[in-house]
Amino acid sequence: MSTLELRDVIKHFSSDIETVRAVDGVSLAVHPGEFVALYGPSGSGKTTLLLLAAALITPDSGAVRFDGRELSELSEREAALYRRHDVGLVFQSFHLMPHTSALDNAAIKLTGDGCTLREGRRRALPWLERVGLGARAQHTPEQLSMGEQQRIAIARALANEPRLLLADEPTGNLDSKRSREILALMRDICHERAIPGLLVTHDRDAVPFADRLHTLRDGHMTGGIDPEPAAICT
Ligand SMILES: Nc1ncnc2c1ncn2[C@@H]1O[C@H](COP(=O)(O)OP(=O)(O)O)[C@@H](O)[C@H]1O
Ligand SMILES: [Mg+2]
Repeated sequence: MSTLELRDVIKHFSSDIETVRAVDGVSLAVHPGEFVALYGPSGSGKTTLLLLAAALITPDSGAVRFDGRELSELSEREAALYRRHDVGLVFQSFHLMPHTSALDNAAIKLTGDGCTLREGRRRALPWLERVGLGARAQHTPEQLSMGEQQRIAIARALANEPRLLLADEPTGNLDSKRSREILALMRDICHERAIPGLLVTHDRDAVPFADRLHTLRDGHMTGGIDPEPAAICT
């Protein structure tokens, strides 16, 4: 079962001046086919949690597991393979290559994995079609809207068929209509592919799209937001 599981996770950041408890005892499970949102204000620990789930950093205590594997026990090489094969990451900034077609942008992650560009394009095209950009595969980012650029980034994140979708403020650069489309798209893909998806955001508009919502404040999960959404879990 490819569940993402965080158990009593604590992560500090220390400098000469202070120690910040960025994540303060978070426990959370995201099951296959679930699209879960963590909602919290800036500085509440959202990005840190996502970096932990992506095995880009390790917790000071507690456990982060995917598919039963404890991520902090992975070697550097295993963690890199986990990120490359198992994780699809979507950010606020799209990080697309300029003057390069949507198709090649979506295929790039695959070519880094040893497959040819031709093969990468063949595998990426159905994902561009899935995100509604099949007809614009040859357009470059400059020729596309912000919403369309985020769609390319989602196709790129999914082109190698990851087993986990992680999204950090994916709608931060989008207007509300495009935001809703992108959120619905990510939710639907998690349902269709039966993969767990974790969205972290301070965007209230994201709330109705999550199968489950948790709120984060000062590194720990709290009860509710104001105004209270329909379905909120602690
Ligand atoms: N690399 C870092 N070094 C020092 N402090 C950090 C670092 N990353 C995050 N923090 C601090 O941890 C807290 C949580 O940050 P972050 O996870 O980025 O929150 P969010 O994504 O919700 O805005 C903040 O107080 C932030 O300043
Ligand atoms: Mg953040």
